[in-house]
Amino acid sequence: MPNREHWGTRIGLILAMAGNAVGLGNFLRFPTQAAQNGGGVFMIPYMISLVLIAIPLMWVEWAIGRYGGIRGHGTTPAIFRLLWSHPVAKYLGVLGLFVPFVVSCYYVYIESWTLGYAVMSLLGMLPKVPASTDPHTYLAPFKEFLNAYTGMGEGDFYRPSLKAYFFFLVTMGLNVFVLIKGISGGIEKLAKVAMPLLFLFAVVLMIRVITLETPMGSAVAGLNFLWEPKWAELTNPKVWLAAAGQVFFTLSLGFGAIITYASYLKRNDDLTLSALTASSLNELAEVVLGGSIAIPAAAAFFGVAAAQTIAASGAFNLAFVSLPAIFANIPLGQFFGFLWFILLFFAGLTSSVAITQPVIAFLEDEFRLDRRTAVLATMFVLFSVAHVAVFLAGALDEMDFWAGTFFVVVFALCEVLIFFWAFNPTQAWAEINRGGYIKLPRVFFFIMRYVTPLFLLLITGWWMVTILPGYLAESRWTSWVAREVLVAIMALFCFLVYFQDKRRRKRK
Ligand code: ALA
Repeated sequence: MPNREHWGTRIGLILAMAGNAVGLGNFLRFPTQAAQNGGGVFMIPYMISLVLIAIPLMWVEWAIGRYGGIRGHGTTPAIFRLLWSHPVAKYLGVLGLFVPFVVSCYYVYIESWTLGYAVMSLLGMLPKVPASTDPHTYLAPFKEFLNAYTGMGEGDFYRPSLKAYFFFLVTMGLNVFVLIKGISGGIEKLAKVAMPLLFLFAVVLMIRVITLETPMGSAVAGLNFLWEPKWAELTNPKVWLAAAGQVFFTLSLGFGAIITYASYLKRNDDLTLSALTASSLNELAEVVLGGSIAIPAAAAFFGVAAAQTIAASGAFNLAFVSLPAIFANIPLGQFFGFLWFILLFFAGLTSSVAITQPVIAFLEDEFRLDRRTAVLATMFVLFSVAHVAVFLAGALDEMDFWAGTFFVVVFALCEVLIFFWAFNPTQAWAEINRGGYIKLPRVFFFIMRYVTPLFLLLITGWWMVTILPGYLAESRWTSWVAREVLVAIMALFCFLVYFQDKRRRKRK
């Protein structure tokens, strides 16, 4: 069995796990989802999903990862095979490569916008327009600037600016740099610097935003909107699906990324308290910090109703259009704009290295590639596939829809069913609790075995009935091309797993 790496320190592990989770999802996706789904009403299904699905799944993923790691495997094709001897197990595990890889193909590109905008903000290259009472006129130059930067327009192809492509290359390079240095030498070191800075920047921005007040409104009104519960909307399935989806995305659950990170734990390392701590840091970053910057700032400048419309028009409009427009009109705006985008960049970088790590670990563990070769091979394919998201209209949304929304839930369902049904429930429970600094209340055994899988089944079914048909009916030809690319990626991973398994059997 090869000598696998381990995390250097407990704090490093927790910060790396928190960095894995805290990402663009916390600061861009969360406020948009909350605003699109009625503000306060969103938080109730969000909290319920957190307790009944997310936290239990978090323990399950950490335990599956540690179980595999001490047996020499960091990814689910091999770990599922260890847990369940059925021939299909390894192919279900392919989702643990497919999901993070596909997400990383568009994630790194969006991350590169945040770096580009941070630099442009600092250098004063973003538009400077005096505020006007009509949000539409006021935001137009910022919208045009974003469209010119990303080249996203009406046609079937995007024409990104040279600047966008340049920052994409730089971001790829930085990811490669961190990844090549390994688990404790690269990822852990990055987390130890980036995470404290990220929290510091977020707190500074939050304080600045909360004290914003203009004739149009105040940040406090935006907070009220987000936090005032509207019970009547609780029966809307769309809100439940959105809340559960957000919980998955923000905690990187069903991505395979937590499992791979946990595979670098040692046999008796605590996981109960560590997983809870890393998840709490993510929720702090999401609910408290993520919820107190973008929407309240937009509410202060444009009024609550307009802020809701802006958020409804998507996360990119909120982050790259309305926030720069706001910063352009406050003292030291260039600096605050820089803080906002560099904070997003740190959040993005600590997550992108996490979601690229599963494929790298797969190549290292199963094909015995050295780290450098594994990183370069993975990043080369990632870079190539990312071009589909960069140039083909709608491909990014397509990748996000399938990998970032649908398969995460399906994969999470596989994880919990394999661990708590196909494997052995008593052993699974013991595996979670071994070495734990806290002992989990027994009620979580029943939640993990019955409630979580049932909840996940319900979400998948609901999603297939209420969302999928409409989505497929609206497809354009570019969506079908993107889908073919996704099928090709899935086929490639299935082939690698098949090939590796055959070799393993021969060796026996
Ligand atoms: N969990 C990561 C995020 O929130 C993927 O962006």
